[in-house]
Amino acid sequence: ADAPILVTGGAGFIGSHACKALSLAGFLPVVIDNLCTGHGDSVKWGPFYELDVRNSLAVADVISRHDIRHVMHFAASAYVGESVRNPGKYYQNNIGGMQALLDACVTAKVENLIFSSSCATYGIPESQPIREDSPQNPINPYGRTKLIGEQMIRDYAHAYGIKYATLRYFNACGADPDGELAERHDPETHLLPLAMLAAAGLHDELQIFGTDYATQDGTCVRDYIHVDDLAHGHVAALQHLLDGGASLALNLGSGKGHSVLQVLEEIENVTGRKVPARFAARRPGDPPVLTADPSLAAEVLGFHTLHSSMAQIIRDAAPFFGLSKKEAQNA
Ligand code: UFG
Repeated sequence: ADAPILVTGGAGFIGSHACKALSLAGFLPVVIDNLCTGHGDSVKWGPFYELDVRNSLAVADVISRHDIRHVMHFAASAYVGESVRNPGKYYQNNIGGMQALLDACVTAKVENLIFSSSCATYGIPESQPIREDSPQNPINPYGRTKLIGEQMIRDYAHAYGIKYATLRYFNACGADPDGELAERHDPETHLLPLAMLAAAGLHDELQIFGTDYATQDGTCVRDYIHVDDLAHGHVAALQHLLDGGASLALNLGSGKGHSVLQVLEEIENVTGRKVPARFAARRPGDPPVLTADPSLAAEVLGFHTLHSSMAQIIRDAAPFFGLSKKEAQNA
């Protein structure tokens, strides 16, 4: 039988794409998700338990019932802006959730843990692109909870012999190239979805947050990685641990930076639709530039992004944001 993998947050954007990648690689994803932001109809490749990760006893029970040895932990709150306004939610869900999960892993004798961390743990890095040994000084509560999560895993790993892969994502975007899964956030705050909705006339004009950053055109630069690449990065990290590889922390990014204005321009190039936009104030908690040095993941996992050109990201996501696939492909 396929080896079962517990996927917390498996009904969410990145978690659901990881479930598909796991299934294609011959694993059985066993999902727990409290559906506070996830979608039950995104769980398609294995059993589903509607369960909060903070319910440590129930989680340990699921792990034992399915004889699970390996866990991918996605369940978390993940809005930078909200974390600035409502830090308690982030400490409860992300730190409380992590501790409950780690305790369940110890109880149920889990061997390998893969954790969704973030480039937000680097804060405002001194140099770009960012290597894994860059200092981690997060500038918002979300980033702090991800950094603390990394540290908690290391402490538990040391005490109980659990192995781990901490994966620091850059900006996840795009959608399943087969169209089976989409990005669906409520509220939607991410740049690419909002810009496409605005281009389709389904949302107000886009606000460009900050035009006076020290970047080529004054707008923030991010490293956008296709969610399908990200999903395969998780499978590669799991395989690394299963093959006897050591615990590690890795960036998962494309290694390329796009400014907000460059993203809008690419949407116009690919879809032929203009993104209505206006300049607005900076959004608190936003670092000016975040781009990955992806070479360690390439070296250790053989991980390379295959779908992360901005054009493909836009083509795969466009149909879910009111822009027809045909429109996206004609360009
Ligand atoms: N932006 C706008 N207008 C918008 C939305 C976003 O100008 O309406 C800008 C932001 O200021 C930022 C860029 O577009 O410069 C990307 O913003 P997103 O909200 O799409 O993504 P973030 O970079 O803020 O956040 C993402 C993930 C987090 C992760 C973070 C790391 O959502 O989980 O990357 O920086 F931690």
